[in-house]
Amino acid sequence: MLAAALAAAGCQAQHTPPRDTTSALTPPRDTSGGFRAPSPYTEGAASADGTGRYYMGREIARVMDHRGAAWLERPERERTELPALVVENLDLQGDEIVADIGAGTGYFTFRIAPLVPQGRVLAVDIQPQMLSILERRAEEEAMPNVAPVWGAEDDPRLQTESVDVTLIVDAYHEFFYPREMAEAIYDATRPGGRLVLVEYRAEDPSVPIRRLHKMSEAQVRRELEAAGFRFVENRDFLPQQHFLVFERPA
Ligand SMILES: C[S@@+](CC[C@H](N)C(=O)[O-])C[C@H]1O[C@@H](n2cnc3c(N)ncnc32)[C@H](O)[C@@H]1O
Repeated sequence: MLAAALAAAGCQAQHTPPRDTTSALTPPRDTSGGFRAPSPYTEGAASADGTGRYYMGREIARVMDHRGAAWLERPERERTELPALVVENLDLQGDEIVADIGAGTGYFTFRIAPLVPQGRVLAVDIQPQMLSILERRAEEEAMPNVAPVWGAEDDPRLQTESVDVTLIVDAYHEFFYPREMAEAIYDATRPGGRLVLVEYRAEDPSVPIRRLHKMSEAQVRRELEAAGFRFVENRDFLPQQHFLVFERPA
């Protein structure tokens, strides 16, 4: 069934499982035709919840394990993250292809799906256990326009220029290959399409979230503009998080 959903999503390389995130590192795919640019990553001391891998001065956080999936559905998110307002601010018309990357249990996926009855939500995650939860819920709630997509750590496996809007909530800071992911998301976005990133505000010391799980606007802009995205705005309506809008120029 998961395979069918993957096929329905039109994913590329559907049968290649992503890297086991608990094992030793493997390099990303080589698309250079022989020439290898220097790695954009450096290694350093690892924080308690960090990987010891740095990108543009930021330590990449460790991936949230699927065994903590229930935490993603905690009721207080309604109050602290205002999910209804987040999806309202995606300004959806009803027929878009939306990618929810780092979808987890589908906390946002299942709030978006009813808003795009003529479209589809591609719920991308690297942990198959998360995709199983998503798939089960899509069946239980009869939401045929939710398609789980098994992404790789360096590639969300979405078709070129197929996505109208990508949403990434509280996940980008743990992408192990942020450069490759941002470039692949850019490629998957149709010209004029949008990317929305929701991350806890690193600028605000009163936000009670561990440091590596927060990002500043400046840092996000640096990383996504390097992949070609144009910064549009930071909508200031969430109590603790940025709502950063980017677009792929038309
Ligand atoms: C903290 S959870 C957030 C889940 C969801 N966005 C939410 O707000 O409830 C982060 C998720 O990102 C996923 N993730 C980490 N790296 C990823 C990558 N490179 N591609 C896709 N998903 C990734 C993890 O497996 C995890 O499910």
